[in-house]
Amino acid sequence: MESPVESPAATEAILLVGGKGTRLRPLTMHTPKPMVPAAGVPFLTHQLARAAAAGVEHVVLATSYLAEVFEPHFGDGSALGLHLEYVTETEPLGTGGAIRNVAHRLHSAPGDPVLVLNGDILTGLDIPALVGTHRATGADISLHLTKVPDPRAFGLVPTDPDGRVTAFLEKPQTPEEIVTDQINAGCYVFTRSVIDTIPAGRPVSVERETFPDLLAVGAHLQGMVDSTYWLDLGTPQAFVRGSADLVLGRAPSPAVPGQCGDHLVLPGAHVADDAKLSGGSCVSAGAVIGSGARVVGSTVLAGATVEPGAVVRDSLVGTGAVIGARTILEGAVIGDGAHVGPDNELRDGVRIWCGARIPAAAIRFSSDE
Ligand code: GTP
Repeated sequence: MESPVESPAATEAILLVGGKGTRLRPLTMHTPKPMVPAAGVPFLTHQLARAAAAGVEHVVLATSYLAEVFEPHFGDGSALGLHLEYVTETEPLGTGGAIRNVAHRLHSAPGDPVLVLNGDILTGLDIPALVGTHRATGADISLHLTKVPDPRAFGLVPTDPDGRVTAFLEKPQTPEEIVTDQINAGCYVFTRSVIDTIPAGRPVSVERETFPDLLAVGAHLQGMVDSTYWLDLGTPQAFVRGSADLVLGRAPSPAVPGQCGDHLVLPGAHVADDAKLSGGSCVSAGAVIGSGARVVGSTVLAGATVEPGAVVRDSLVGTGAVIGARTILEGAVIGDGAHVGPDNELRDGVRIWCGARIPAAAIRFSSDE
């Protein structure tokens, strides 16, 4: 076992941002998931800012789907105090293949810790604590684990009393198979040399292949469980929740562009004096919120319009979309450029595709009695 060293920081990180984000469609039709705005800035900004605050200096972005949009936005990373590099896969390589594919860009020595972050996780994880655990235990890989109330939808990661991972279990099918409430939280520390053991040039999943295979050959995989804020922003409802939690200050980020509070209105947005914003709502530049409209726990992206008297709750209104007067949205996602006419009622996870047109008074949920 290595002895703990003085500085617990990792100086390099790999960010996995190449997934197709299918569950988040239509938000990811034109925008890769990490670039969808949360609390007014592309979600990735929050992760990069948190990595920088944890002492990371060099980040390699592993891109694939819509790869071309990252570099024009983040450039060399100097605005965030980082040195950013971009490596694009010609074919998607999966989470493990993506990590292996960027290894040649790392500067770390073989024994150094390298941070690996999924690009769709919002968390208050104490990154230096995870790196510190990695160094103190001498693990090959350390994983952030989080406890969830209902683990049935997740692969489970049980650990022994010392925190060492004992298995990677598929989604439990029966109550007996729920042996722990710990799940993989999507943030890892790899000892640099371990990255070279991932096969190159073909798709590899760290979750399904690398981690179980390493465990089977006796590698040391350490878990670090905590109870900090954690949310996988993979689904529209989770994304809307995560953005609201950033605005409210429940999810910590140094990159929220303004004071945390009940709502956030970015410069260049126009909100009528008698409109009401609450619950962590965020209104982006160029968006218009009309007279008497209510926006609760929702995200209204750039250039969108919420017409007078509309109610938008726990929903996302895409770039340039229009929500007609008196229309009610609850748990809805409206794609970029869609037009929802006046007097509609859209609820329960409905997703309106980019550019779609819904006429006035065309959709209702509640009874007319
Ligand atoms: P869904 O299609 O909705 O499941 O989303 P996803 O494609 O993002 O997949 P998932 O949530 O499982 O991915 C976890 C993380 O790995 C995300 O940050 C993805 O961007 C990233 N990722 C997934 N597949 C690839 C890949 O083939 N290449 C790269 N570079 N990153 C990937």
